[in-house]
Amino acid sequence: MKTVISLDDLTSARTALTGTVGLVPTMGYLHEGHLSLIRLAKVECESVVVSIFVNPTQFGANEDLSKYPRDLERDLRLIEPLGVDLVWIPTPGIMYPTGYQTWVEVDAITHPLEGSVRPTHFKGVATIVAKLFNAVQPHKAYFGQKDGQQAAVIRQMTRDLNFPVDVVVCPTVREVDGLAMSSRNKYLEGADRKAATVLFHALSAAKTAYEGGERKADVLRGKMKEVLASEPRAMVQYVSCADYDSLEELDLIQGKTLLSMAVILGKTRLIDNFVLG
Ligand code: PAJ
Repeated sequence: MKTVISLDDLTSARTALTGTVGLVPTMGYLHEGHLSLIRLAKVECESVVVSIFVNPTQFGANEDLSKYPRDLERDLRLIEPLGVDLVWIPTPGIMYPTGYQTWVEVDAITHPLEGSVRPTHFKGVATIVAKLFNAVQPHKAYFGQKDGQQAAVIRQMTRDLNFPVDVVVCPTVREVDGLAMSSRNKYLEGADRKAATVLFHALSAAKTAYEGGERKADVLRGKMKEVLASEPRAMVQYVSCADYDSLEELDLIQGKTLLSMAVILGKTRLIDNFVLG
């Protein structure tokens, strides 16, 4: 496994890779969710590149950039046995040198949900992913359904900008009690960690209603809100039942649908979603 930092070293190491190249972009502090993407990339591609970069431009001014968990040694230890060919660990100065001024902005689908609470977030995500695609030139890139809107935004950007990249979205990996794995779960303590399963329970309640034949989106939103309200520690930011691709809120469910939510527990902000249909 080769580890590189500079763009020049990345470019020469990339040139040496053979066959289908799969890219797994991450911000590090890896867990089973990240590792599941790497494992799938390994099955589907001859060469696998992992990037580790805590991208400053996707954090809002009052968000947790400086406190974002980091442990590079541990990350490399976790990646090594998976047969990854190349790990790129650029610095902020490499990705955004002095004088940097070019951004990728995706329009309508970045406005609701996460965009309504984090208005500059997807500009940072789309820009860094475009830069990673350009630098690594992967044939395939792997993202998690855990960040459902992010996956939709990246699919849209890839289509709109004609990146010759196949975007693969992988299922959410969960703890045994249903909590979706996330680097930020580390901040959940005691009662907040227990209460965090309420997102999974709320989504499950809506899914059960859907499987019982319910197709009114408002009823499903109501089911999710009802379960969330039963947990006094949970501060709900949004609850949504939207079209899977456009992320527009639905009246009636017909096709593929994204149930999603954002909840604050103590100092930790959690998001989760289920896909229906
Ligand atoms: P990060 O939060 O490190 O996540 C990297 C990838 O792992 C993302 O595609 C994310 O959706 C996926 N992932 C996280 N938790 C998961 C889980 N429980 N199950 C399955 N997949 C999971 O998302 C980012 O980094 C950044 O925004 C990035 C795309 C790297 C751009 O900076």
